[in-house]
Amino acid sequence: MNKLRLLYLLPIILFATILLATDFSKYDHTDNSTTVTKEVAANTDDFDKMMQALTHPRCLNCHPSDNKPKQGIDQHPHYFGVARGKADHGFEATKCNTCHQKENNEFSGVPGAPHWGLAPSSMNWEGLSKNEIASSMMDRKQNGGKSPNEILKHLTEDPLVLWAWDPGVDVAGNPRETPPISKEEYIAAVKSWFAGGAVIPK
Ligand code: HEC
Ligand code: HEC
Repeated sequence: MNKLRLLYLLPIILFATILLATDFSKYDHTDNSTTVTKEVAANTDDFDKMMQALTHPRCLNCHPSDNKPKQGIDQHPHYFGVARGKADHGFEATKCNTCHQKENNEFSGVPGAPHWGLAPSSMNWEGLSKNEIASSMMDRKQNGGKSPNEILKHLTEDPLVLWAWDPGVDVAGNPRETPPISKEEYIAAVKSWFAGGAVIPK
């Protein structure tokens, strides 16, 4: 919490630094531009870290662009032709929750988490660049009307998101791969990116 509050202060500190630097700009403006460049670099760093998770198959498999959930690290189409149904929870005959429970089934290899279902089609991420994914995620018209704070909460607390770091074993009994950064690092990067104004790099 303390760290988060500190991060909220960063823009103010930065602003003060710029003001000071402007006053003395005749004598020294290299310092000013170095500070600004460093700040932007830190925020791009957070963005890149966060996007390492968001572009991982563990997330994309449920955020497809063709209405069909994918499976595995190779993102092959879901068995049995499972596709989007009424309210994104599968056709009547193949409701997601017939097979997917509230937690991973380590015996059958069926992954599970509370409210398992396909992301609504406005949240299709598969095939998008990381900047496009971030823009779509922050756009209320596409993200289910969520405010930046609600997105922050979803990204750091939703059970389907956190499942990516506890994905269980597949039907062959092999552990599923997790995103390339740890959950703690991911959550810290997300919080820091939002605290820095959720800037999507050009
Ligand atoms: C089991 C399927 C599933 C997985 C896995 C999954 N999601 Fe989602 N996602 C959903 C569903 C369903 C919704 C919509 C329901 C909601 O908003 O609560 C959603 C909504 C979202 C949203 C809301 C805003 C928007 O525009 O998309 C974000 C952000 C998001 N997911 C991020 C992620 C991230 C990051 C991961 C991986 C770390 C992930 N999801 C993994 C199913 C999934
Ligand atoms: C008939 C049972 C069944 C139904 C219905 C079903 N699934 Fe699955 N699903 C499975 C099994 C089994 C696996 C594991 C496959 C494996 O490990 O090779 C799986 C895996 C997945 C994965 C892969 C996760 C990953 O990252 O590898 C996703 C995503 C998924 N299902 C989403 C859905 C969605 C969304 C629905 C509803 C629209 C659904 N499933 C309906 C049985 C089912």
